[in-house]
Amino acid sequence: MTTSRPIGVFDSGIGGLPIARQIRALLPNENIVYVADTLHTPYGEKTEDYILQRSLAVTDFLLAQNAKAIVVACNTATMVSIKTLRERHAVPFIGVEPGVKPAAIHTQTGVIGVLATEKTLTSDAFNQLAKRVAGDVQMEIQPCPKLVRLVESLQLSGQDAVQAVEDYVHPLLEKGADTIILGCTHFAHLAPIIEQVAGLGVSVISTETAVAKEVARRLEAENLLAQPVEPTTQAASAEFWSNSDLPLFQKQVAALWGPDTQHDTQHGIQIKSF
Ligand code: DGL
Repeated sequence: MTTSRPIGVFDSGIGGLPIARQIRALLPNENIVYVADTLHTPYGEKTEDYILQRSLAVTDFLLAQNAKAIVVACNTATMVSIKTLRERHAVPFIGVEPGVKPAAIHTQTGVIGVLATEKTLTSDAFNQLAKRVAGDVQMEIQPCPKLVRLVESLQLSGQDAVQAVEDYVHPLLEKGADTIILGCTHFAHLAPIIEQVAGLGVSVISTETAVAKEVARRLEAENLLAQPVEPTTQAASAEFWSNSDLPLFQKQVAALWGPDTQHDTQHGIQIKSF
């Protein structure tokens, strides 16, 4: 096993897994410790103080695991908490925010739609971001209260998922949106349905690749990148922590971490409760 300090990644649940996967793909030498704060999901329905307290508590946990950098793989927690996290701790924090800027550049109709949690859409940080980067573009927001629970229960296809996505995407299409932003990390798991419902000619923008690139950039800038391990057959480790229903979490990770799961089983993938 390598001993280099891990990158910590957290979300209210399994929404941050696509970001963790992109980090793994881009930085295969890095150990990853992923925390799903599932006992407290969904963050999007909690107060800002509650979300901040959870972000602080999970950060303390990741720092106790010796994390050298922390990825706040949740738009809601980023919007509410990242400023305070950066004020209180010296490690680099990399957050995720709705891709308003790329959407505003991309749109042809001049109308963009944002799918996100209620809490993200009403946060000061999101509203400042929108003012700063949306320019003359018309931005239509759509809270999606049903989608996080669907993802957490692994209902990623089927009639309930399609119906819920239609309920949220159709109003944006009716307003002329040709570009739809996935402003909640959970929604990446529903991207195939969202793209299908949105139809040809509508672009769906998600940010996990950009976040992984930013992680790489920050680690390099701070001289924190892990050195390649020798012999090269030894893979970096991936640990997944949850604080409720471990059997469900095991199922979620097996379904969503994908083909790497088996590979990592031989090389130190661990699923644990905290
Ligand atoms: N995945 C989170 C986000 O990106 C929040 C989901 C929730 O817990 O409400 O906003």
